[in-house]
Amino acid sequence: MANVERTVAVIGAGAIAGHHFGAIAGMKGLRACAVADLNAVRAEELAAQFGVAAYRDYREMIRSERPDIVAIALPHYLHKEAALFAASYGCHMMLEKPMALSAAECDEIIHAARLADVRVLVGHTQHYMAENIMAKTMIDSGAIGSLVMMNDIRHMDYYRSSRPDWFLEKTKSGGGILANLGTHSIDKIQWLAGSAVRKVNASVSYHGSRGNVEGSGLVYLELENGMPATIAQAGYNGAARNETEIIGTKGMLKLMTGDSLWVSTGGPYEQVDVPRSAAPFELQYGDLLQAIAGGGETSCPPKYGRDVIRVLETVYASAASGKEQYMEGEDATSM
Ligand SMILES: NC(=O)c1ccc[n+]([C@@H]2O[C@H](COP(=O)([O-])OP(=O)(O)OC[C@H]3O[C@@H](n4cnc5c(N)ncnc54)[C@H](O)[C@@H]3O)[C@@H](O)[C@H]2O)c1
Repeated sequence: MANVERTVAVIGAGAIAGHHFGAIAGMKGLRACAVADLNAVRAEELAAQFGVAAYRDYREMIRSERPDIVAIALPHYLHKEAALFAASYGCHMMLEKPMALSAAECDEIIHAARLADVRVLVGHTQHYMAENIMAKTMIDSGAIGSLVMMNDIRHMDYYRSSRPDWFLEKTKSGGGILANLGTHSIDKIQWLAGSAVRKVNASVSYHGSRGNVEGSGLVYLELENGMPATIAQAGYNGAARNETEIIGTKGMLKLMTGDSLWVSTGGPYEQVDVPRSAAPFELQYGDLLQAIAGGGETSCPPKYGRDVIRVLETVYASAASGKEQYMEGEDATSM
């Protein structure tokens, strides 16, 4: 097993592609072979940097290279068509989040992956970040008692000029800050709590300087285990923030994802010593490789990616109707 080397072809040479290539380069058992992007300059730059072949057409790349794994790092509206094509060539998939534009599209991907008997990891990076892993370990060990609530806050300039236009077009992105970053928060809350969302109440606003997607959202969630949680996200001008407060009966955690973790069991927060782990994308690829070798599911299988999309759809349904919405009997059982 140790000598097996799997090849990876990356579709999309945009902002996140370098993280994929960087992880692949640092791992045994993986070798990047190609990159495809409609933007030939971007594809060729990455190809030169990582010593792989460049293509404009991802279909041609898959037909020629026959990679073991395809990493799909495309605008959201293209995830489904690329995933179906990759599955039709028997390729395993590292499929960026959010999984697709709708639960119906996710179903098509799930069906195609099953038929082709290929493994899929949906890139819910939250599961692989060192501070988050430590927070999960502390929660599961009972360090802060039984969970009472979580409050997740994220602010950033969502309309910065460097953001590609497709992120701000609803038909291409599926939504604004909540579709892009809110899906991280939905995932983080469900995963940390080990419980699926069952009820949603949400408000959104549309005051962006570009496009037609929401620029903020305030979301109240209730999980199957009864725990309430909030997500507050704003993409207008102001100070950036990324903070999750996790409150239990015996203490609290303050999780600054990608930065630090803090604990209080009385008195002010104290910083937790977080052991350094491999980079999140390396852990993601390790997870996928293990599933390929063992024939089982990844830790973020497509069924779970679909569950996150279902919650997002319910968030938008609540915001549109002005009423709380239930998850219609579906749950995220595959966390
Ligand atoms: N896991 C994370 O933390 C994380 C972070 C950033 C982005 N993402 C996700 O990664 C994906 C890509 O995001 P990004 O920021 O890299 O976007 P991006 O716009 O920077 O890159 C997308 C690339 O796809 C190319 N492209 C568009 N249509 C194509 C086609 N038909 N064939 C080939 N190439 C095509 C574009 O030219 C562009 O270079 C999205 O799903 C996004 O949500 C995940």
